[in-house]
Amino acid sequence: MQQTLDPDRVQAFAGKLLGDLGATISAALIQVGDRLGLYRALAESGPLGSADLAQRTGASERYVREWLANQCASGYIEYRTESQTYLLPDEHAAVLADEESPAFMVGGFQTAVGVYQILDKVEQAFRSDEGIDWGEHDAHMFCGVERFFGPAYRNGLVQEWLPALEGVQAKLEAGARIADVGCGHGKTAVLMAQAYPASTVVGIDVHSPSIAIASQRAAEAGVADRVQFECAGAQDYTGRDFDLITFFDCLHDMGDPHAAAAHALGALREGGTLMLVEPMAGDRLQDNLNPVGRAYYGFSTTICTPASLAQPGRCGLGAQAGEARLREVLTHAGFRTIRRVAQTPFNQILEARR
Ligand SMILES: C[S@@+](CC[C@H](N)C(=O)[O-])C[C@H]1O[C@@H](n2cnc3c(N)ncnc32)[C@H](O)[C@@H]1O
Repeated sequence: MQQTLDPDRVQAFAGKLLGDLGATISAALIQVGDRLGLYRALAESGPLGSADLAQRTGASERYVREWLANQCASGYIEYRTESQTYLLPDEHAAVLADEESPAFMVGGFQTAVGVYQILDKVEQAFRSDEGIDWGEHDAHMFCGVERFFGPAYRNGLVQEWLPALEGVQAKLEAGARIADVGCGHGKTAVLMAQAYPASTVVGIDVHSPSIAIASQRAAEAGVADRVQFECAGAQDYTGRDFDLITFFDCLHDMGDPHAAAAHALGALREGGTLMLVEPMAGDRLQDNLNPVGRAYYGFSTTICTPASLAQPGRCGLGAQAGEARLREVLTHAGFRTIRRVAQTPFNQILEARR
């Protein structure tokens, strides 16, 4: 067996995994940089020595210096040998330091660190075929997801996705009823309420701690008068006559997405629209063997599929379902007109009508 191995291939593959090992430990250090404000301090200051950065962030210089070394070896931060200072290039700051930037990615790493907190449960789920309920995660997951998807929602939802829906923007401007199902921390409910002050939004989620945070977020944003939150399942909420029902990155987490879509159809007013935002994916495994698919299949294996398998229905759609399977779910529920209206590297946006 040993003699048949191609040593160059072994070495090349080991080299690839070495890079992945460095990335894995750096994921934890990205969290450190985010929590302590190291990236933000560097973004604001320009090149700094380790002592200056430590002083600005109230952190220990010895730890900061070691962290900086990892960040330079990772290619995240640049080291200036002569001045012994460290620079976070503006382009890297957009990804690591600026929460408002469309390229901000730290939430994804926070989510990945959240997976490491439940590794024993993931192992057990593989052995038992049981699910892992969304509520079994900790704040890494809930806040990480909010921050991971937030940039796309902030930069796409009101600007591009809602205007792309047939006739919806005019209704929202005039005053419409919106339900945001699986709303999590309420980011999208708040964004829609801010953009369309004549409309009202009901955010619905089965996870009560997320609903509590979502209510706080709405109050902080000054839109609590037109956003309400309800702790209910996607098949259980009682509201009716909605003009627009949205699902943001949550349908595939549900045990019975077919029933959730059917319930939405029943809760829509005549002529109403369902907007389905799901992770970007092609229909076949071979279409998704790329960096986006790699990340999403990882999240899907450890978060989304277990969440679905923890609920009645146990559909396990997966985070890389692809448009064809999403259409099948919507068609099965009774939607007849379905089209993709927008997409980003991370999301596909479908419109469904009766
Ligand atoms: C990945 S998070 C997405 C949250 C939010 N929409 C966002 O994009 O940031 C999935 C959300 O779906 C909710 N969820 C899962 N199954 C649900 C169900 N059957 N009914 C209602 N909400 C559900 C979870 O509690 C969680 O808040």
